[in-house]
Order: sequence, then C-alpha cells, then structure tokens
Amino acid sequence: MNIRTALFVCLACGWSAGVLAEETGNDIYKGDTESRLNALAHIQPGLGVVMHEIGYRAAAAYKAANGGNWGLAQYELNELLEAQELGEATRPQHAQMLQAFEHANWPPVFKAVENKDLDTFNQHFASTVEACNACHIALGHAYIKYQLPTEAAAAGLDFNFQTDPTHEEEK
Ligand code: HEC
Repeated sequence: MNIRTALFVCLACGWSAGVLAEETGNDIYKGDTESRLNALAHIQPGLGVVMHEIGYRAAAAYKAANGGNWGLAQYELNELLEAQELGEATRPQHAQMLQAFEHANWPPVFKAVENKDLDTFNQHFASTVEACNACHIALGHAYIKYQLPTEAAAAGLDFNFQTDPTHEEEK
C-alpha cells in the first residue's frame, strides 16, 4: 500500500491524518520534544531554497551597483550572506565549503561597494560567479551554471536610484 492509499484509507475509516504523521514522526505539534524538534528541522529550507535566494540577491546586487544604487548593492550582499548562514545551519555538511567560498570571494566585492569602484566591483563579481559554478560542479550539479540575468531580476526595485553604501546592519 503506498502512502496515498494509506492516507485515503485512514481518512475513509475516520482516522485523522495526524495519526499517520505522528507514527512517522513528522508532526510538529505532537509527540515528545525531540521528535517535534526533528520534525521541525526536517522541513527547514535546504540549499535548493537558499541558493534560489542567493541567485536573486547576487543579481540584484550586481544590477544595483551597475545602476549606481550602492546602498541597495550593499544591502543585497549583506542579505545574501544571511541566506548563506541559513544554508550552513540546515546543511552543516556543506558549511565549511560555503564559508571557504565566502572568505575567498566576497571581501573584495564588499570593499569595491564601499569605495563605489565599479570596475573593481565587476571584475571581482565575475570571478565570484565562476567560483559559484565551480562549487556546483564539485557537488555534482554541473548543470547549474549561474549566469547574471540580462533583465533586472528584481522587479519593483529602482537600481538606478543614486545612493551611497552607508547602511548599518541592525544588530
Ligand atoms: C558550497 C557550494 C556552493 C556554492 C559556493 C554556491 N552554490 Fe549554488 N548551489 C549549490 C548546490 C549544492 C545547489 C543545488 C541545491 C539543491 O541541492 O537543491 C545549488 C544551486 C544553485 C542554484 C539553483 C537554484 C534553483 O533551484 O533554481 C542557483 C541559482 C545557485 N546555486 C546560485 C549560486 C550563486 C549565485 C552562488 C555564488 C554567489 C552559488 N550558487 C554558490 C552549491 C553551491
């Protein structure tokens, strides 16, 4: 009996779906603290979700810097690193690689934003994207070749709004 049939039978015989979930340890509301915690951990976003956000924010940072919105570029890069932290926590087996990648690539990009130095920014951004794809290859996802979108990825943000990179992150 597959899970779908099982669920149907359970519902048909008057069981709640919660009974089935509890038996398989997937209920976040029922059971002992450890099993509820495990159920919660199990549904946290993994690298697939995190990378989606990283791809979006990398594109937005790039577009913003190239449009002169340095404040937005800085904001997007900070948010990108926060998204990465989530990936490090939910996929600890990749944490070391993610941190090594971060320390090898992002500091000069952040520095170029602070200096509003577009040539240096674009140069380091391009090599960072190569490093992104090197990790995709290394982890068996060679078909994931990140490239910067030609159109603005983040509709609703004004990349040409002229601002300075003066934002302080909230602690
Ligand atoms: C530590 C290795 C690693 C690094 C570094 C890395 N990625 Fe990824 N990326 C992955 C893995 C693994 C996946 C596949 C996720 C999964 O398991 O579903 C992925 C998937 C993606 C995807 C596909 C998301 C989707 O589902 O459509 C995008 C976009 C992406 N990465 C962008 C980036 C960008 C941009 C960078 C650099 C700024 C980057 N990645 C750096 C490991 C990495």
